[in-house]
Amino acid sequence: MRIDQYIENKKRVHGRPICAYVYDLGRLRKHVNTLKSGLPAFCRLFYAVKANPDPRILGTLAPIVDGFEVASGGELHKVHQEKTVLFGAPAKKQEEIEEAIDAGVEAINVESFHDLNRIEWLSKERGAVTPVLIRVNLSRDVPESHHMMSGVPTQFGVDEREVPQIIQKALQMDHVRVEGFHFHAMSNNLNAEAHVQFVSMCLEKAKSWQNRFELDIHTVDVGGGIGINYWNPEEAFDWSLFTSGLHKMESQMDGLTLVLELGRYMTAAAGSYVTEVIDVKANHDHHFALIRGGSHHLRLPAAWKMSHPFRVHPIEEWEAPYERPGMKGAEVTIAGELCTPNDVLVKSEYVEELRAGDVVIFDYAGAYAWTISHHEFLSHPEPEFIYLEEKQ
Ligand SMILES: Cc1ncc(COP(=O)(O)O)c(C=O)c1O
Repeated sequence: MRIDQYIENKKRVHGRPICAYVYDLGRLRKHVNTLKSGLPAFCRLFYAVKANPDPRILGTLAPIVDGFEVASGGELHKVHQEKTVLFGAPAKKQEEIEEAIDAGVEAINVESFHDLNRIEWLSKERGAVTPVLIRVNLSRDVPESHHMMSGVPTQFGVDEREVPQIIQKALQMDHVRVEGFHFHAMSNNLNAEAHVQFVSMCLEKAKSWQNRFELDIHTVDVGGGIGINYWNPEEAFDWSLFTSGLHKMESQMDGLTLVLELGRYMTAAAGSYVTEVIDVKANHDHHFALIRGGSHHLRLPAAWKMSHPFRVHPIEEWEAPYERPGMKGAEVTIAGELCTPNDVLVKSEYVEELRAGDVVIFDYAGAYAWTISHHEFLSHPEPEFIYLEEKQ
């Protein structure tokens, strides 16, 4: 394991415990090339920047993906100018819309009637015609989802029942052009068959509006939402089942292009959060290991109230003249360095042995990890960021 090599090779500095995000860029490149090569020709693979906007990650993905999906002016500035960009955000500021139009993004998502009016107006001011994707909040529940963004009342998209009205309104405008529909609806779906059904349903909906309003559309964007099985990594989302389902849709496509905007599934496995155990103790008959770091660096397990997958990298040397705290063959809760009981990354999981000075590796920390965390809380130093390339 390349991360274990990194830990072994890292020069120990007394008083400065290991705490790092380690991104395996070689692994990321290989993974995304594999994803891309499995897709049929009518699919375009975009990266949802929100999952991890680290410049080295974006730089690694840029030559492989067909484009980036951005959700803010900040993300727009981070992406590589030469790449195709889709811009979508629920509460767009005027400045962001202007920047997206000026940057010549491939399309902007329309999330409401007000959004449509503003894009039309700002495009008119610039003498531009802006391609838009109408983001739909489906009436039907979507299956197997961790976070529901559609099929239930949410702040996202246009209610499916109002889609005909918004299409009619857009058709009367001179400075927007309906390029297609956007259906991002879920998060962390682990069921490939359900995802194929979801894509097929989106396609049918888009085609029904296309036919009814004689739209000259090209794009059906089904968003992201493919999941990582944090609880049982052996039973992962079946990518080949998913892509074989997509290949079977060839005859349904009628010249349309399917856009996938994957975040988590692209980058999660390429990142690990690596931290050293500072103390091990028992409290009310329960073992606790306290690490350098915590939820201010990796908030995902606290946000989802789950134990993050972890492994122990034992460190044999112990140079201190006093006793080394540790525990053996029991359940342990791994907590961070913050003054809150919510700062827990692993809740009551069995370990063979864990001692102060050992290193804990939290894999699957390449997406929605550092970026969604509250870094400033308690003013601890940030982790290091390490990038492993192929030849290391
Ligand atoms: C519009 C949109 N597209 C794509 C994504 C990426 O989703 P995921 O990381 O689950 O693939 C998100 C995530 O929230 C999103 O809001």
